[in-house]
Amino acid sequence: MTHPKATHTLGVGVLVSGTGSNLQALIDAEITVVAVASNVAGVPALERALAAGIPTGVFPLEDYAGRNERDAAMAEWLSSLGVGLVVCAGYMHLLRPVFLTRFPGRVVNVHPALLPAFPGAAAVEDALAAGVTETGATVHLVDEGIDTGAVLRQEAVPVLPGDTAETLHARIRVVEHRLVSEVVRELIAR
Ligand code: GAR
Repeated sequence: MTHPKATHTLGVGVLVSGTGSNLQALIDAEITVVAVASNVAGVPALERALAAGIPTGVFPLEDYAGRNERDAAMAEWLSSLGVGLVVCAGYMHLLRPVFLTRFPGRVVNVHPALLPAFPGAAAVEDALAAGVTETGATVHLVDEGIDTGAVLRQEAVPVLPGDTAETLHARIRVVEHRLVSEVVRELIAR
């Protein structure tokens, strides 16, 4: 009798706030995403999820007493759908410990810079302003800090003469899409 191939046991949940190109990359890589949560209603990322038939949840901060309550509700919803691995794909709020402790060591983030360089919400603009000739993309574990968790994968991306934030971010996104798909595939196959 042959042993069954190891099956993917961790349901993947994706947190978004905006465009959702990294979510789309996961969908296109045929990674089964079981839930998509956003802190912002009406964003393109939610449309992408709907188009792919993935359940969506919207958790705006203003609907809750505070961040702890919002993050607890979001964690509960993701858990109820079988999520065991959370991917922050352009999710622009920090996650509280009440969320992180529900998925210990199982929350990853995509960041558009070579961390620890240029953490925060304006990494592409900050790299351009600093005049560096190279920046990049990072996939890292999420802890309570701002882009401080252990790096899982990163890859350099050149800054080219004449780059704007848009052209540079587009070049970085191409790398992010590949890295996040590879890392998620590795984590769910363990
Ligand atoms: C991505 O470039 C991601 O690295 C960045 O937001 C973009 C979202 O794009 N995240 C951060 O800056 C987090 N600090 P997407 O919505 O098209 O995936």
